[in-house]
Amino acid sequence: MMKKQLNAAIVLLGAGLLLAACSDGGMTTTSSSAPADDTTTGANGTSDNPDAWSGYKTAIATTQAMNDDEFENPGMPYVDQAAGIWDEPAGASGLSCASCHGAVDDAAGGALRIPMKGVGATFPRLDADSGKPINVELQINKCRVGQQYASPFKYESDEMLGMTGLVRKQSNGMPVISTAGDPEDELHTAWQAGKEFYYQRRGKLDMACKHCHEDNAANIIRAETLSQGQSNGFPTYRFKWQKPGSLHRRFRGCNKNIRSTPYGYGSDEYLNLETYLAWRGRGLQVAAPAVRK
Ligand code: HEC
Ligand code: HEC
Repeated sequence: MMKKQLNAAIVLLGAGLLLAACSDGGMTTTSSSAPADDTTTGANGTSDNPDAWSGYKTAIATTQAMNDDEFENPGMPYVDQAAGIWDEPAGASGLSCASCHGAVDDAAGGALRIPMKGVGATFPRLDADSGKPINVELQINKCRVGQQYASPFKYESDEMLGMTGLVRKQSNGMPVISTAGDPEDELHTAWQAGKEFYYQRRGKLDMACKHCHEDNAANIIRAETLSQGQSNGFPTYRFKWQKPGSLHRRFRGCNKNIRSTPYGYGSDEYLNLETYLAWRGRGLQVAAPAVRK
């Protein structure tokens, strides 16, 4: 059965359809075995989740080098721009992010003692107001609207991508923490829904996330080396996009690849899926903004 699904994918790849949606076809890696352990880049999960590995591992060396060099990383200009916005008063409040949170890298978290360090490693969290998971993007807009009385950033705007990158970057190197798989965890209901989504076949190809990112991780389908589809590097600069994109943009792309209807940016479905992916990649180091092909 699995073979049939993959064959269907390969047929599509042959037709250039999946390839067009999924890859720029320009760069490949020749490794077909599982990537070696690496404790120095922290690209592997830690003790309770040792088999997790980051998409960094299957990137080719030149992409990895760009990822690692702040000056070469093409996602960084967006982050730098957001660092300017961080200090700018906005909305009727006349307050900037810094007014309440201090410098973005202030571990003490400024006047309100709410630091950005750690955010990227611990979101999504349960939002007590909505009773749903809240990710970094939606939290930023919660502060824009509820604290600054300013207009929200559009989900996939340069401002939002840059600000999400800036906030998440403060946790770079920290292991992702998620206990959402625990039935007692407040995010467990969302985790359960996200997990069901992950394993559910959908679309014209009748495939689930797991068919590519679990069963075929590290395998090459034509020019594309599949990773585990982890979320630790988002927002991620992709050569194909020629700019950074959100995790939800990636979900939409992967949904479209299998000819299934994508869900909205910030939708409940994708917030649940994001909650599940954080747990699935627990122990991987936050590494934002990552660079991928
Ligand atoms: C008037 C004060 C105020 C301003 C201005 C403000 N925030 Fe917040 N922020 C808060 C409060 C209070 C919380 C915790 C309550 C909540 O979740 O809304 C918070 C929480 C956060 C969190 C989650 C941190 C955590 O560990 O829970 C992030 C991320 C964040 N803010 C980002 C921003 C950004 C980015 C801006 C500017 C665009 C900003 N905030 C502007 C008051 C502010
Ligand atoms: C037909 C195969 C296929 C399916 C099914 C699929 N993806 Fe992907 N996905 C890819 C390819 C190809 C890439 C780019 C190479 C890679 O990192 O695997 C990718 C990349 C990703 C990435 C980026 C990883 C990184 O390190 O940048 C995430 C996250 C992801 N997928 C999540 C999902 C989720 C969630 C689903 C289910 C809704 C899904 N994918 C379904 C093929 C697939």
